[in-house]
Amino acid sequence: MPLDATSQPVNAPAARSWPEGFLWGSATAAAQVEGASHEGGKEDSVWDAFARVPGAIANGETLKDAVQHYRRMPEDVAIMKELGLGSYRFSTSWARVRPGDRGPNAEGFDFYSRLVDELLEAGILPWLTLYHWDLPQALEEKGGWADRDTAYRFVEYAADVYSALGDRVQHWTTFNEPFCSSLLGYAAGVHAPGRQDPSAAVAAIHHQHLAHGMAVNELRGRGAQQLGITLNLSNSIPRDPSDPVDVDAARRFDSLQNRIFLDPILRGAYPEDTLADLEQFGIRDVIQPGDLEIIGAPLEFLGVNHYHDDLISGHPDNEGGDGHSGGATRPTSSCWIGSEDLAFPSRGLPRTAMDWEVNPDGLRKLLVRLGGEYPSLPPLYVTENGAAYDDVVSSDGAVHDVERTAYILDHIAAVGEAIDQGADVRGYFVWSLLDNFEWSWGYGKRFGIVRVDYESFERTVKDSGLAYARVIAAAAPAP
Ligand code: NOJ
Repeated sequence: MPLDATSQPVNAPAARSWPEGFLWGSATAAAQVEGASHEGGKEDSVWDAFARVPGAIANGETLKDAVQHYRRMPEDVAIMKELGLGSYRFSTSWARVRPGDRGPNAEGFDFYSRLVDELLEAGILPWLTLYHWDLPQALEEKGGWADRDTAYRFVEYAADVYSALGDRVQHWTTFNEPFCSSLLGYAAGVHAPGRQDPSAAVAAIHHQHLAHGMAVNELRGRGAQQLGITLNLSNSIPRDPSDPVDVDAARRFDSLQNRIFLDPILRGAYPEDTLADLEQFGIRDVIQPGDLEIIGAPLEFLGVNHYHDDLISGHPDNEGGDGHSGGATRPTSSCWIGSEDLAFPSRGLPRTAMDWEVNPDGLRKLLVRLGGEYPSLPPLYVTENGAAYDDVVSSDGAVHDVERTAYILDHIAAVGEAIDQGADVRGYFVWSLLDNFEWSWGYGKRFGIVRVDYESFERTVKDSGLAYARVIAAAAPAP
């Protein structure tokens, strides 16, 4: 279906000029879109296994078909081309290319090799993430990320992927949002593998950091020149800046949401207050001599995923609950390390279907702030930003997703303002290209700029996709 991307007026953010080479993309992740969960030699990942636990996923949904990207990949790349995407951010599935973490599975690599060729043929830059949360279940059964050995296995996996695709892929992201695959998976238990063991979560954080640093060194040694990591970062705002209880609550939230990831990677050291807060969970015991030098290996880019800010109160009893019942990537207050005495009051801002507040200026603030706080900050890419809403298919067959369109355009405008204020932002990726499997929330939370009909798997570009295509076309007009 040809897109009519030029017939409508250009939206505000496109009217500005963008730095030369600014990358416009969209993102997905293997477990969320591929399906074929046990085809082509693929075996269980922790998410396949977690989905079998009664009650773990809304409506008992599974990853079996996801949105059939494994089967429909050429069609999906054609849609990307029609949208004018400059880059596609995807992840490789460890459990597909090294099922059971045994040796390489040629059929699994063949899929990603065809994907990369198809992208390059369409003039779209492949932006590859090695770990978007789908550890082979066989490794979880040996201890998962709580076990240091998993970090060494990750490096073998990364090396295999580089051998297969390093001749064509330039941009390598080690981890996506390690916050989720450590704290939400091993402490809160709301993500795979569903463990509720704070010490295991603390070990998982450190071992993922180590795996990141070792993989960066390994791939650089093999010739990779664009290496980075993607973190989910937020502004942690005390509800009452004059109340020491709120200020300390916001500090602790910032420590576990942001600084425990940023500091070792960008400064080569954990923050002192984080070490003190997590001492009881054995953080000092898992750090071995030399680890932090490895973890602080220089990077060419930092990926920033941002959806919302966090207003923090240290008085949960006064707030009538935790204030953030929604959100697969947000813990509930009772099950996350040190979060029992935090609350997330409402600021009365509009909210998405995830119950996440909409505040584009938070993205501007975050991007500007990072440069001020981290002198060795590499160039930034917004590797995820987007919104879930309850879409309706109109009688004309279209999806007039006015709220998502506004969300995306307003956040793009905020990126532009951050650049004007000195932030070195080189690209923006919408989450997500397609409606897909939103982890514990299953398929009900739709983030796509392209609708997927879950019966027929037919794809329909939503109005937000058309609007994004217009932004891209206006930002980088065809020569
Ligand atoms: C972060 C994750 O990387 C992605 O997998 C998820 O679907 C989105 N945010 C929305 O929650």
